[in-house]
Amino acid sequence: MKDVYIFAIESSCDETSAAIIKNGKDVVSLTINTQIKTHENYGGVVPEIASRMHTEAITYVIDDCIKKSGMTFEDMDAIAVTYTPGLLGSLLVGIEAAKVLALTYNKPLIAVNHIAGHIYANNLEDNNIVFPSLGLVVSGGHTEIIYLEDDYNFKILGSTLDDAIGEAYDKVARVLDLKYPGGPNIEKLAKEGQPTYKLPIPMNDESLNLSFSGLKSSIINLVHNETQRGNEINRADLACSFQTIAVDELTRKVELAIKKYNPKNMIVAGGVSANTYLREEIAKVCDKYNINLSIPKMLYCTDNAAMIGAAAYPLFKRGEFASFDLNGISTGNIFKF
Ligand code: KG4
Ligand code: ZN
Repeated sequence: MKDVYIFAIESSCDETSAAIIKNGKDVVSLTINTQIKTHENYGGVVPEIASRMHTEAITYVIDDCIKKSGMTFEDMDAIAVTYTPGLLGSLLVGIEAAKVLALTYNKPLIAVNHIAGHIYANNLEDNNIVFPSLGLVVSGGHTEIIYLEDDYNFKILGSTLDDAIGEAYDKVARVLDLKYPGGPNIEKLAKEGQPTYKLPIPMNDESLNLSFSGLKSSIINLVHNETQRGNEINRADLACSFQTIAVDELTRKVELAIKKYNPKNMIVAGGVSANTYLREEIAKVCDKYNINLSIPKMLYCTDNAAMIGAAAYPLFKRGEFASFDLNGISTGNIFKF
């Protein structure tokens, strides 16, 4: 069969990225331009600034990606782009660029769901999704335990009832005076501490749902109360206590799902899957039940266009192409693709 090359674009949040993916798996070329340094100054992503920066970066990123590959747009079989979920102004920059390329070079356009992108990052390079599989989606906006029956046939088994895990990391980081994005900075600080703080265990139950806002609020209250009393906070210990409780709860719920569904395979997806403690704890549970585990390489855990190219491939094979009136949707339902 002829090789399939997909040119993919991602601009849903604070990374402008383009990639060329061969057969949904091999990364021929990848360019990522991150805006983190700018948003750091504001403690989080400022949507208006994000879309302006995507506008400035998109042409350079696309150009860099195609030049590095030594290929041309004529060699591409399709143009793929993230259309949901994300910041609307940011999504539109990528969508318009993708439409221009598809129209100019007469290629089909593929609309990709960003969370599907995180999931399909598990097909890149040495990773492989084997169906059926249990899945854990952990990003800035999503926390779900899912069951992957087949390509684009995913069922939610449980999800957060309030904050996403990445959001909790980011909000706890703020109160600990750590820069955005909070996840990697909490992880770093936690390595210097011990889990000495007694904090509430979220959703201490047997369901597959999760909750992180109580844990987050208890830390915010603790820091405010201690500061008002003039007491010192051991920031490293508090970061470590938060991470231990949050990850242990995720792992405990994954183990409950394993006992209930008896899967042979498991995947982890989303920005928080870059967390080493989470990777290790999930690996231990999978070892215990003899389950094959796939977690993307660090580079493909956080936002990038390679994962969008991987997620576009099954849609290409089905001939599921988007029309040129494709619009961005800020809060798309991730499990109705
Ligand atoms: O998937 P992602 O890049 O963007 C979304 O689609 O939301 O995830 C971003 C989230 C942020 O909340 C960030 O703090 C978190 O992933 N994150 C981490 C780590 N790296 C990124 N959380 C914990 N540990 C990390 N090493
Ligand atoms: Zn993401």
